[in-house]
Amino acid sequence: MSEAANYIELCAVGDVSQDLPFKAQIDGTDLAVFQIGDAYYVTQDLCSHGPGSLCEGYVDGEEIECPFHQGKFNIITGKPTAPPCTEALKIWNVAVKDNKIMIDPASGHVAAA
Ligand code: FES
Repeated sequence: MSEAANYIELCAVGDVSQDLPFKAQIDGTDLAVFQIGDAYYVTQDLCSHGPGSLCEGYVDGEEIECPFHQGKFNIITGKPTAPPCTEALKIWNVAVKDNKIMIDPASGHVAAA
């Protein structure tokens, strides 16, 4: 038996650009919405290393550089790509409908190492 995922809206497509992620909030948790090409990705906004907000970081291709200690993550997988970050970010399944970026809140997970 399969159930349709309950996607909830985070923001409009126009709120995000390749250079500027959008910070959304769900149940008091900040999420970072990224655009890479025509695709959208959502990770936790809080860096897994410390207090850095990844939405305030620097996007370079598929990577986000944390503004705090310049650690990096792959936006698509959430995996750390540069020290001092060692723990992967939580990521969510994203859908785009009617120009709205949505996630399935229940899909949040950390990619296997
Ligand atoms: S808080 Fe992000 S690299 Fe340290």
